[in-house]
Order: sequence, then structure tokens, then C-alpha cells
Amino acid sequence: MEPRLVAIFFVAFLFPTFVQSLVRHYNFNVVLKNSTKLCSTKSFVTVNGKFPGPTIYAREDDNVIVRVTNHVKHNVTIHWHGIKQLRTCWSDGPAYITQCPIQTGQSFVYNFTITGQRGTLLWHAHITWLRATMHGAIVILPKRDIPYPFPKPDKEKIIILGEWWKSDVEAVVNQATNSGLPPNISDAHTINGHPGSVPGCMSQGYTLHVERGKTYLLRIINAALNDELFFKIAGHKLTVVEADASYIKPFETDTIFLSPGQTTNVLLTTNQSVGKYLIATTPFMDAPIGFDNVTSIATLHYKGTQPDTKTILTNIPPLNATTLTKTFTDSLKSLNSKQYPTKVPLKIDQSLLFAITVGIDPCDTCTSGNKLVSAINNVTFLMPTISLLQAHYYNIKGVFTDDFPANPPLVFDYTGADQPDNLHTENGTRVYRLNFNSSVEIVLQGTAMIAPENHPFHLHGYNFFVVGQGLGNFDHDKDPLRFNLVDPVERNTLSVPNAGWIAIRFRADNPGVWFLHCHLEVHTTWGLKMAFIVDNGRGPNESKLPPPNDLPMC
Ligand SMILES: *[C@@H]1O[C@H](CO)[C@@H](O)[C@H](O)[C@H]1NC(C)=O
Ligand SMILES: *[C@@H]1O[C@H](CO)[C@@H](O)[C@H](O)[C@H]1NC(C)=O
Ligand SMILES: *[C@@H]1O[C@H](CO)[C@@H](O)[C@H](O)[C@H]1NC(C)=O
Ligand SMILES: *[C@@H]1O[C@H](CO)[C@@H](O)[C@H](O)[C@H]1NC(C)=O
Ligand SMILES: *[C@@H]1O[C@H](CO)[C@@H](O)[C@H](O)[C@H]1NC(C)=O
Ligand SMILES: *[C@@H]1O[C@H](CO)[C@@H](O)[C@H](O)[C@H]1NC(C)=O
Ligand SMILES: *[C@@H]1O[C@H](CO)[C@@H](O)[C@H](O)[C@H]1NC(C)=O
Ligand SMILES: *[C@@H]1O[C@H](CO)[C@@H](O)[C@H](O)[C@H]1NC(C)=O
Ligand SMILES: *[C@@H]1O[C@H](CO)[C@@H](O)[C@H](O)[C@H]1NC(C)=O
Ligand SMILES: *[C@@H]1O[C@H](CO)[C@@H](O)[C@H](O)[C@H]1NC(C)=O
Ligand SMILES: *[C@@H]1O[C@H](CO)[C@@H](O)[C@H](O)[C@H]1NC(C)=O
Repeated sequence: MEPRLVAIFFVAFLFPTFVQSLVRHYNFNVVLKNSTKLCSTKSFVTVNGKFPGPTIYAREDDNVIVRVTNHVKHNVTIHWHGIKQLRTCWSDGPAYITQCPIQTGQSFVYNFTITGQRGTLLWHAHITWLRATMHGAIVILPKRDIPYPFPKPDKEKIIILGEWWKSDVEAVVNQATNSGLPPNISDAHTINGHPGSVPGCMSQGYTLHVERGKTYLLRIINAALNDELFFKIAGHKLTVVEADASYIKPFETDTIFLSPGQTTNVLLTTNQSVGKYLIATTPFMDAPIGFDNVTSIATLHYKGTQPDTKTILTNIPPLNATTLTKTFTDSLKSLNSKQYPTKVPLKIDQSLLFAITVGIDPCDTCTSGNKLVSAINNVTFLMPTISLLQAHYYNIKGVFTDDFPANPPLVFDYTGADQPDNLHTENGTRVYRLNFNSSVEIVLQGTAMIAPENHPFHLHGYNFFVVGQGLGNFDHDKDPLRFNLVDPVERNTLSVPNAGWIAIRFRADNPGVWFLHCHLEVHTTWGLKMAFIVDNGRGPNESKLPPPNDLPMC
């Protein structure tokens, strides 16, 4: 049985009441599994032979201990996506950023405490493209005796959206790296591991069993690699109550939108006639490349439905439903209640403008002689061969430089028709250094170079506040006047709209090395990533903990 639950009680002497937190132990064995989907069988890498993988359950303030043991030939690491990892950057997981991989036959114990977060997050492999089949939910319950700030649901269900390739996923990315061209798109989307029917292969898809007259909390996770997704249920409204493990002001919608890495909790009230209702997941793609229109379906099945009942269908959003994504994103506001105040930094110490480009660089080893690359401020990030955190902590020279540019080296009309002709980028392992507790604003500016595209950016180690977003070029004078500094949504991942920008803020109060990257794996592979080093503070709890004894070495 997977979750071995060992309870240890701590008495917090500082508090008048008796506060309890638990230590939760999990064993993750990385093993191969064979499975048939889309009428095709393959062997793939999993945690504990499950797809999706096991769920981590914890309460806010609990200490989570996960022993990961690698029984496969691939190198592996696991990232606890959205967990803030206060002072425990060693347990964050991105390969060659905070740790070297766990190699065949090795184990590593991830050890972190969940602080100031509650809701749904996900864990996933963070090396090459293994997260395609190595991912699962993290359910963080509120502290004992603290209710949800919305009506208590009768039941909870986890819905994990994924992507499935009939081929070996590592072969897909290796083929793309060798050619320098875009990788093959997936063959289907999955809902809790089940693809719907595709031409030539019928499938039942996943069934979500419900009873009439109840309220369900659906914890929805986008664990896809490269696709932003819409999710809807025929005949039912969804009340959105939380995003990326932060409460939001509840609102009703019939379609939700999630980028890879994002999580959303919604309330579903089963107040329709007993019957079967279509659940649909479809991709959002407003850029003209990598066309993919596979809808994945599941069924909401009310208890007591007659066997021959027809499923009630729903219309699905078109691939290019940009307005829908904007309406959804604009509706997200943090709860900002007395209990959960929104602490957005008002005064900014570090102001950064990061321009996102796609380019083409020469490549001797590529069959085409060139390769597609992507860059932030014209820097295509090169992965180091030992971890940045190790190099930083032990002061090992020659691994990285701390001269990541704060602004684009070339100022141009980022979203206009007149783009630079020179599509080359620079490359390097460059990081940006931040003082402890400095307040940071980053404007992520999309550009129209080669392909204007939507880029879901993910920051490790922090949540950020989304104070503004817009289309076109960011205007330093006018746009800040419209910033929301009252109840901006707090997230760990957010899409930079196609040929537009987002402005995010965070306080750098967590020392360590923290990755910032596009969460479309294809773009991460192309170099759309960088890292921050946040220095230690001077206070007693303001330094990184020392590295664990079993930290994997390169
Ligand atoms: C998967 O299938 C292959 C080929 O049939 C077989 O050799 C292997 O043992 C199977 N692996 C697992 C984990 O079942
Ligand atoms: C987890 O980390 C804490 C803080 O460093 C330490 O006290 C504890 O012993 C660790 N637990 C395990 C199981 O390694
Ligand atoms: C990618 O797609 C092409 C064209 O369909 C196919 O020939 C190739 O085998 C695929 N590559 C992998 C790794 O599946
Ligand atoms: C069903 O519940 C939704 C809220 O999820 C509400 O908007 C709707 O009006 C209800 N419909 C009926 C028929 O009660
Ligand atoms: C979209 O899917 C439909 C139905 O499977 C198919 O007929 C059509 O060719 C697809 N369109 C594109 C652009 O792939
Ligand atoms: C979306 O795509 C459809 C079909 O390709 C096209 O007719 C429509 O103009 C597009 N809408 C937008 C807003 O680009
Ligand atoms: C990016 O760097 C390359 C190589 O130095 C240079 O040729 C190109 O003009 C730069 N492009 C931009 C947009 O800064
Ligand atoms: C990095 O850039 C240099 C100079 O343009 C080039 O020689 C080298 O091949 C590039 N490295 C990679 C991995 O692209
Ligand atoms: C961080 O800075 C804020 C704003 O200046 C201040 O209120 C807070 O006490 C500082 N925190 C630490 C740990 O220094
Ligand atoms: C440091 O952390 C410990 C344990 O979490 C806590 O008891 C203590 O109050 C903290 N000290 C300061 C100065 O914040
Ligand atoms: C696994 O990681 C080690 C350490 O970085 C590296 O030397 C080795 O080549 C990697 N093995 C594979 C199969 O990628």
C-alpha cells in the first residue's frame, strides 16, 4: 500500500492552543509498466506502476518525506510543482538546477514542509520528458479545524489531464533534438489516464460516477506536456474556488482553462436530471504551428442512470478560442479575506523585462544543420552538467555566470510586423542574482519572432501575484497605472498571451536557486528557461538548510 502514514505530534509551545502537524511518509518506486492505449502497447516509466501516479495527501504545516528509488535505466528527479520549499531548495527537483539525477539503483529522500498553502498541486518528473508518464496529484488540506472558505463539498474527486504518445516519449524528444525540428505532437489527451476514442480506435474513456443532489470538489490538474487545455462538463456550471493552491473569489463558468502545470479546484453541483453527460478536454492553440485538434472525452455518470441512456453532449471551444482564455484568466482574483490577505509587494526593488523569442541557431550535429531555439532576453539557456545549487553552495567556479540580462539587449517593436531579421540567439548558463527579501517585478513580454505563441511560465520556490496583463508591447508609463494591487491572483504558473505580456510580482524571501521556465516542455527543451539565485538573509531562519546526506552527485 502506498501512503504509509506515520503520525508524530509536535506541540507548538508558542501557541496557546494545541497545534498538530504530521510527518507523512511515501515510497516512490520508479518502475516500468506496460499498457495498451489507443490500440497500441508500450512500456513506459511510472511511479509505483501507476498512471497517473499515486496521490500525496497532506495538511498545511505537515512535513512530507518521499523516498524515491530508481529501478529503471533512465535518470530521474521529481519536482513538487508549486510547493514553496521554504529553505529546502535541495528538495525542489529540477535536474541540474537543484540536484543531480537519481541514477539507476539510487534513492533520494525529498523532505519538505508545506507552509501557507492549501488546495491542489501536482508532482512530476523534472528531467527530459519523463513527466509525460510520471505525474500525480498533491492534495493539501487546510489546517485541522479550519474550514474551506466556501460551502463544504460532500465529496472530492481528482481529475488529471494528460497527453499520450503511442511512441516512446524519450524517442520523440531525442528525434526532435537530433533533427533540430519540432517534436511529434501527441496522439491523444487523457483524463485520469484514459484517452477517448480516436479514428480507428474506440475507447470508453474515463467515467466520473456521481450521485444527484450533491456538491463535488473537483481537483483538476493539467499534467500535459505541451498543450494548454479547456475542460467542460455538458449541462453543468462549475464554480471556481481555488487556483494553484491559493483561494480565489468564487465565480461560475461553464469552461475552465488550464496551462500545463496549473491546477484548479471547482465545485460541481449535480442538480441536473439523472443521466450521462459528456466531459470534454480540448486543446487551446492560437499559434499556427503544431496543429492538434484531438478532443478527449469522459462521462459524468449519475447513479441510477438507465443503461441505454444517451450521453448529453456539449459544444466544444474552437482551438483558437482566445477570448475564452482571456475571460477566464481575467475572472481570477485572489480571495483577499481577513484570514487569507493578499500580500502583494507595493514597492519594487528589482524591475525586470524578459522578452521571449523563438530563434534558429546553427547546429553541426543536427540533420538539418540548424535547430529551433528559444530565448529570454536573447539568452538560450544551456543546462550545466552539475547542479547550479551544488555549484552555488560549494562555490564551484565555471558552472554558471550571474550576468543574466535584466532587459532585452535589443529593443524593438516586440509584437509588431517589423521583426529582427537575425534569428540567432546567444547561449549560456546565466543566472540572475537577487538579495534576500527584495521585491521583484517581472514583465514577461511575448514577441512575434518566428511564431508568436502563448507561453505558460512557471516559477519555482514562490507564488507570484499577477498584477497586470495585456496585448501588444508593455507600456512602462501607462500600463502600471492599471495594475491590480488589491486582489491579484496568486499563482505559480501563468500564460504570457500570444503577442502580449504579463506583469508578476513576488518577494524573494526564500533563499536558493529557483528555475523560471516555460512549462511547455517543447520550449523548455529549446532553452526557454533561466534561474534566479536568491541569497541567504542574515536572520536565523533566512538561510538554506545544509544539503541532505543522500543528495545525488554527478
Ligand atoms: C513488458 O512487455 C515486455 C514485452 O512483452 C516484457 O518483456 C516485459 O517484461 C514487460 N514488462 C513489464 C513491467 O510487465
Ligand atoms: C527532514 O528535514 C528536517 C529539517 O532539516 C530534519 O529535521 C528531519 O530529520 C528530516 N527528516 C528526514 C526523514 O530526513
Ligand atoms: C514522428 O512522426 C513521424 C511522421 O509521422 C514518424 O515517421 C516518426 O516515426 C515519429 N517519431 C517517433 C519517435 O515516433
Ligand atoms: C445548478 O447549480 C448551479 C451552480 O453550480 C446553478 O448555477 C444552477 O442554477 C443550478 N440549476 C438548477 C436547475 O438548480
Ligand atoms: C480535426 O479533426 C477532424 C476530425 O477528426 C479532422 O477531420 C480534421 O482533418 C482535423 N483538422 C486538422 C486541421 O487537423
Ligand atoms: C479561428 O479559426 C477559425 C477556423 O480556422 C477561423 O475561421 C476564425 O477566424 C478564427 N478566429 C480567430 C479569432 O482567429
Ligand atoms: C541575439 O544574439 C545574436 C548573437 O549575438 C545576435 O546576432 C542577435 O542580433 C541578437 N538578437 C536580439 C533580438 O537581441
Ligand atoms: C553556443 O554558442 C556558440 C557561439 O555561437 C556556439 O559555437 C555553440 O555551438 C553554441 N552551443 C550550443 C550548445 O548551442
Ligand atoms: C521583508 O521586507 C518587508 C518589506 O520591507 C518587511 O516588512 C519584512 O519584515 C521583511 N522580511 C524579512 C524576513 O526581512
Ligand atoms: C525560526 O523557525 C523556528 C521553527 O520554525 C521558529 O520556532 C522560530 O520562531 C523562528 N525564528 C524566527 C526568528 O523567525
Ligand atoms: C545520468 O546522470 C549522470 C550524472 O549527471 C550522467 O553522467 C549520465 O550520463 C546520465 N545517464 C543517462 C542515461 O542520461
